[in-house]
Amino acid sequence: MIGQDISQAKRVLDAGELVAIPTETVYGLAGNALNPVAVASIFETKNRPSFDPLIVHIPSLEVAENYVIDIPDPLRKLAEQFWPGPLTLLLPRKNTIPDIVTSGLERVAVRVPDHSLTLELLSQLDFPLAAPSANPFGYISPTSPAHVDAQLGDKISYILDGGKCRVGLESTIVGMEENEIVIYRLGGLEISEIERIVGKVTVKSHSSSNPQSPGLLESHYAPTKPFILGNLEELIAERKREGIDFAVLSLVQSFPAIPTGNQIALSTRGDLKEAATNLFAAMRTLDASNASVILAELMPEEGLGKAINDRLKRAATKG
Ligand code: TXA
Ligand code: MG
Repeated sequence: MIGQDISQAKRVLDAGELVAIPTETVYGLAGNALNPVAVASIFETKNRPSFDPLIVHIPSLEVAENYVIDIPDPLRKLAEQFWPGPLTLLLPRKNTIPDIVTSGLERVAVRVPDHSLTLELLSQLDFPLAAPSANPFGYISPTSPAHVDAQLGDKISYILDGGKCRVGLESTIVGMEENEIVIYRLGGLEISEIERIVGKVTVKSHSSSNPQSPGLLESHYAPTKPFILGNLEELIAERKREGIDFAVLSLVQSFPAIPTGNQIALSTRGDLKEAATNLFAAMRTLDASNASVILAELMPEEGLGKAINDRLKRAATKG
């Protein structure tokens, strides 16, 4: 069922069942983070391997103290500045957080999402919500209730309808190693915004030396159709020569010779925030088109362009 009834969502969650929740980034598949059985059903519903840990969603920074041993100063500054918002912090956990949530890791990922319905829901619950993106493991993240419904609708009791996600990319994941501030996943909060508050950071999100976190590994966020990145003019010319049906995902450009249903420009004014908001919906639309392959181009490596490119590269067909 889809609706905007917070009490209904609360009843379902209190019963240990799952609710899809809206956030500013993407929709989450939420369950009681303190109930290992509810958390296990998140993994099962998504078909997600149990070694890939979940983010714990809380209503405010104060509440984090119940679940983490310590918040290092720079990370506290980030939380004060950007919560609620597209920032996830990796913090040393208390054992109030069940092992299944962190896959046994010593740090727990926490965030305060910026969506009024979900904040209201969180403030009414006696527990935080563990929630990965509400998509089958490895597929494109959902940015509207319809995306959730299309793939997981028959498996979850309630979808809380908060409309289209404002940011459209998952949260930026930040933690510390020694005294170094590390970004583990590029996301909806730009690096420059983070560096403005805490100075220079290290980006480790392309590292594959972190096998505990498949979301940070190479192949992810992927459409079902082959997804090819490169220079669009060249890619299009090759497909035409080979006589293959294709769809095109660009930033600005449109292609008069290609049917309108088979091409999407993410932002005709080249605005990377707008492009981020539209990215996952566009990938889904083209994945559902009658083309047999999707051709796409990288964004400029600036602002949210870096996070968009991260997703495009992980979505791209290898080999
Ligand atoms: O914007 C978001 O972050 C969305 C919304 C729903 O909040 N959530 C989301 O969750 O993207 P998910 O599960 O799809 O991605 C979370 C990523 C995964 O790559 C996971 O491996 C990593 O965070 N992660 C979670 N807990 C971790 C931990 N304790 N240590 C290291 N990585 C962790
Ligand atoms: Mg995900």
